[in-house]
Order: sequence, then structure tokens, then C-alpha cells
Amino acid sequence: MRHHHPTILKALIITMLACSQTAFAQNADGPVLRSDNIDAVLNAMTVEEKVSLLVGGAGTTPDVPNAAGYTRTLSRFGIPLTVLCDGPAGLRIDPKREGTDQTFYCTGFPVGTLSASSWDPDMVERMTAAMGNEVLEYGVDVLLAPGMNIHRNPLCGRNFEYFSEDPVLSGRIAAAYVRGVQSNEVGCSVKHFATNSQETNRLENDARVGERALREIYLKGFEIAVKEGRPWTVMSSYNKLNGEYTQQSRRLLTTILRDDWGFDGLVMTDWGCKDSTVKSAKAGNDLMEPGFQREQDRLLAAVKSGEISRAELNRNVRRLLEYIVKTPHFRNYSYSNRPDLQAHAQVARKAAEESIVLLRNENSTLPLKGNEKVALYGISSVDFFGVGTGSGHVNMSHVVNLQEAMTAAGFTLDEDLAEYYRHCYALQNDKERMEGSSLDKRHRSEPEVSVQAIERQAQNNDVAVVVIGRIAGEGADRVFHDDFELTDIERELIQNVSTVYHKAGKRVVVVLNVVGVVETASWKGLVDAIILPWTPGQEGAHAIADILKGKVNPSGKLPTTFPVNYMDIPSAKNFPYRWNPSGRRGERPNYDFTDYEEGIWVGYRYFQTQNVEVSYPFGYGLSYTTFDYGQPVVKAGPDGFTASITVTNTGKVPGREVVELYVSAPSGGLEKPDRELKAFDKTKTLAPGESETLTMTVTTYELASFNESTMAWETAAGTYKLLFGASVNDIRRSATYKIKSPVNKIVAK
Ligand code: BGC
Repeated sequence: MRHHHPTILKALIITMLACSQTAFAQNADGPVLRSDNIDAVLNAMTVEEKVSLLVGGAGTTPDVPNAAGYTRTLSRFGIPLTVLCDGPAGLRIDPKREGTDQTFYCTGFPVGTLSASSWDPDMVERMTAAMGNEVLEYGVDVLLAPGMNIHRNPLCGRNFEYFSEDPVLSGRIAAAYVRGVQSNEVGCSVKHFATNSQETNRLENDARVGERALREIYLKGFEIAVKEGRPWTVMSSYNKLNGEYTQQSRRLLTTILRDDWGFDGLVMTDWGCKDSTVKSAKAGNDLMEPGFQREQDRLLAAVKSGEISRAELNRNVRRLLEYIVKTPHFRNYSYSNRPDLQAHAQVARKAAEESIVLLRNENSTLPLKGNEKVALYGISSVDFFGVGTGSGHVNMSHVVNLQEAMTAAGFTLDEDLAEYYRHCYALQNDKERMEGSSLDKRHRSEPEVSVQAIERQAQNNDVAVVVIGRIAGEGADRVFHDDFELTDIERELIQNVSTVYHKAGKRVVVVLNVVGVVETASWKGLVDAIILPWTPGQEGAHAIADILKGKVNPSGKLPTTFPVNYMDIPSAKNFPYRWNPSGRRGERPNYDFTDYEEGIWVGYRYFQTQNVEVSYPFGYGLSYTTFDYGQPVVKAGPDGFTASITVTNTGKVPGREVVELYVSAPSGGLEKPDRELKAFDKTKTLAPGESETLTMTVTTYELASFNESTMAWETAAGTYKLLFGASVNDIRRSATYKIKSPVNKIVAK
């Protein structure tokens, strides 16, 4: 039951509601819905029918058992039921169904954080085009993804579903994700809007965020995703924002999302509506999910009493109808239930290859030759984590583990050691089954390996690879001890393996199969190489093996900072890790409310500006080759500038390079981070000696900071420094760009 989604019970209870969905279909005289007669249908609908469309349901639908949710049918208008299921690492549906031997597995793709590590929106778009095909072919209309909350703190239990600590990287990857999925003419639901940065008390926590941080950090990514990705739907979050549930915030869901950003789609709640359904509907939250009878009752009463006006009701219903006419169910798409899982496995593998980050590679330890004898340590080499748990889990037919992948790649594994880990894993599994417990732990218990055994293994093998695993998911945040920090046994394993292998003149590689950032500063110096695949999907282990043997040259870069100490992170003092349960209800810091006291100083914006040492900086990642950055050329345009830079592969093997464009704003005016990411691009695979010119465009608006006293996006006049980096603190070239007079864009309050 390890991956049991917490809302399933709730879903089962309301399955019954699905049966009542035809209650309004007595009259078969309605105009049949078409994309060009929405007004006519709206006019012909009774208030009850309208209200029924605004409240969804969850559970078994005729097409997809245990779907996360659906919208209701109104058969007299030919309005079909539409089906909503989770992502983001792939489609989450039940793999088995009663009465058939057919299976309904889906592909487990790299999780959000690994996708963002690619810094390659085009690749992400190709990946999610395959993912969206599974949505379509399994009879689903909307994928409840991408998740794009900001990595405010590394202990958020769902960070793996999310992309980055930076809104521009998050926003551009999210937009690409949406375009890929929606190219199949199915929808996305960008979530969780907004400030859902922790899992602890996630239904009630009040995120207290200043206006500037809200606009620049927490909303900016959504803004980019909405404008560049045009998602069909957005999911409001469970939490409160500055005292108000986001699903009830007119300011968020209408003033900002629709009026300011131009969003023209549907807003649905996360999977639990708050009591004031009426307030949500008025605020512009069109669809209540999963939806209960009581929500229909409330809406109906409010329409009858006039609390919800006809215009408001029609506005929301119209959005539902506009959504419905786009869906495969409306088009009567005859789905196959047989997507090409083999082809998609290859897409998932390729995506992992393009995204995995090489953190350390002393004395060119990697790549290996590929025919070495390898001692592979760590129970995660067997129980490899492809994706996280909770609603972000995917029911895959298999997850390739590193033992299998390395063997397939031609390495010879120390078979005794491999068998030892398989045995320990089987024992742990049996124990869990007998006790009925689940692995909602943060990692498996790491079996001990004695120094004598390591000495023997070091004699018999050429190299050691140690896998460290971490798992997490919806419903709980990670913790500091034995999670962010390595456990004592893991530490001892790395220590002993390093000492013994180094004495024998042999190398040690660590693979971090982790859902989120872990502490690295205290032990990284012990080992020769570190590979960071995060949780790379069902085929990711193959990509790691190919990187180990040099068949693939890594080109991923960090979307999030690895700090030296947890307490270095500005949000650390305002995160549930410090939650005190004995406080008074409603007043418990980091539980009932969380102060985003650090404001805009999230991730590298803080570390870089304050010169705080980090273990691995934002944007960092090594390659097996080297790149030269030519002198950039900057051209001012009517609105901002275009910068081109030529990158040359100066090493010996083919590779790809990400160029990150940071901008330092002129001083004066608002206090600003030392530098901020404004654009990035990635080369194609460059052969040794080959060059490519990358071109990046930045608009005046994108250079702006938010002034909360004037409620304006202000682009100050002066000289902007443009920094072209291989990471946030590895700037290879710079240029300048001048703005003569300030540009301000005032937004509605
Ligand atoms: C999660 C969402 C998910 C929904 C439906 C909620 O509990 O927060 O991310 O889409 O359930 O499963």
C-alpha cells in the first residue's frame, strides 16, 4: 500500500455520486452542445443543471476506475462526463481492472525537478507529448499537472513534483510541459495555485507572504506558464494565502490570473472544497473537486437567494462548457487503452539522459570504460526510486534498478554483493507485508557492510558505486535528521568504502537517487564522483549506467541550490521542521501559519547576494567536455534586448552546454538580488570543435521588480549587467544594456 493516495477513501465514498449524474437528464429536449452554441445551451439549462456542472466528483467512471475526479454529464445537452487524473511524472491510473487481464500501466517519466535539470524546454515538450498521448489513449481528458510550486525549502515533501527555486526556470519548463501534453488535445491543470510550499497542515496552513515576494517569486512562474503554455485549467491550492483560502481569493483567481495575465480557462479546486463554496464560486473558482452534494446545495441556495448572481453563475458555467467542448470525451474520441508504452519508455530514458546532473568528477574519474568490475553498494541499487509517492506517483509496469541497468550496460557486478542487497530488500519487503506497514519512511534501512567485507570487495573489483536513496510525497514534509542529512549507516558506508578503495588505488562514485536536496558538504570530499539523477523515472537507471560508461555525456544543471548547512537557508527558521505541536490552535507557527519572512531571498537570490558559501550552486553541472563562451553580442530592441553568444566545444567528446543569462540591475530604487536568471538556452550536441550561437531575448517587463508601495512593476533606468554563466557563480562572459528612462506597469490591487 506504499503508494496509496490519501484521497482514495474519500473518492470511494463519493463514487455513489457518479450514479446520480444523470438526475437532470429527464428532458431530452435540450440543444445538443457544440462549440458554436454555448450561449444557446446556457440559456436552455435550468439552475440545477448549471450548478451540477460546477461540482465534480471522484471515483469510478465508465472509462477510468478510481479516477482522481470528473465533471458531470448532462445528457439532454449531449454533455459527456470528462475525466481528470494525476500527474506530473506520468498519468496515474489504476493498472488493473476487474473482469479483465488487460493492464493499464503508464510510463514513469523523470519527475519535475529532474525535468527542470535539463534546462531544455524543447526536450520537456517532447517528453510530455508522449505523456499526453497516454492521457488521450487511456480515455482521460485532463492531466492534473504540472506541479510548479517554488522550492522555497528543500524539505517540502512534494518538491520532486515541482521544478525549481527560480520562477523563470519553473515557468519556462512548465509552459513547455503544458504545450507538450496539450498537443494531444487533452488538457493540463497547472497546480497548486499558489504558495503551497509545504505539506505539513497543507489543507489549512496560511502562507503569509509579502506582496513583492508573492509577485516576483511565487506567482511569476505561474504567470509565465499561463502566458506561454496556455493551460486549459489551473488548480487552486488547499492552503490560505495571507489569511484567505486561495480557492476563495477573487484577487488571485480573477484580478491576477485572468484580468492581469489573460488566463481564459477553467479554475478548479484542489481535492477538497472549503466550506464557503459560494465564496469560491464568486471568486472565479469555477469547478469544485472532487465535489459533494452539499456543495451543489450551497450553490443552489446561493443562486436562489441572489448571493450568486445569474451573471456569476453563467460566467462559471460558460467556462465549464468552453472546457468541455475541447475534450476528447466531447469529441467522442475512440481511445485505444493501448498507448505505445515501449516507445514512451525510450522517451523517458532519453529525457533522463538529457537531464541528469554530474556534481563531482575528480581527476576525470568518469566516464568509466564500461567493462569494469563494479561493487555496487546501497539498498537503493535494488529498490531504485523512479518517482515519489502520493498523487505524484505513477503506476508503472516496472522501474529499472541500477543493478539491472549496469549489467545491461556491460559492467560486471560483484554478484555476492548484489545478491546480499537483493536478499536484504526481500527481507524488508516481507517484514513490511507481514506487519502491514508501508514504506512511508524517507528511505529504506541501509544494511551494514563490514570493513572486512569492503576490503575483500575492493580486492575483487575495479570501482565502487554507492547509491543513496530518499523518497517522499504528498501529505508529509521531509525532515532534517536521517533525511536531509545522511543516516549514520550511509555516512559510515561512504566513509569506509572511500578509505578502503582509495587505499587500494581505486575510485568511488556516489549516485544520489533522491526526491530532494540532501546534505553533501560534509562527505563529498571523500568520494571521487557524484551523479545526481534525482528520481529519474522508470528508465532513469539506464541513463545513469550510460553516463557512468560515457555513452551519454551529462548536460543537466541544478535547478535548485545545494546549501552547506540546512540552517543556512533563509526559510529554515520558518518551516515545519521547527513546528511546535503544543502551541494554541490557530497560533502554531509553521503549522497554522508560516511567515515567508525571507521575502524574495529564496535560493541563490540569497546565497549569491549575501556571499554565503554553498555546496553546489544553482545552475551548476559538469560535463565530460569543456566549452568556450565567445564574446556576447547584445542588440537593443524596441522592448528589451536580444543577446547572442557563441559556444564552442573545446574538449574531446560531444556534449551540450546550458548558458544561463543572469542580470544585475543598476543600483538605486528597490533593493535587488545581486543577479537574477532572466533567460537561458542549451546547445544541440556539439562535436569537439563545433560551435553554436545561442540567442536569448529579454523584455523590459522581464527586467522589472515589483514595488509594493506603488503596486507597479518597475524597470529602473540605468546600466544592466548581463552575465553569461555556466552556473550562477561561474560567469564566463558579460555585457551591458542601458535603459534611458524608467518603465512602470501598474497593476490592479
Ligand atoms: C493533491 C493534488 C492532486 C489531487 C487529485 C490532491 O490531494 O494535492 O495534487 O491533483 O489530490 O488526486
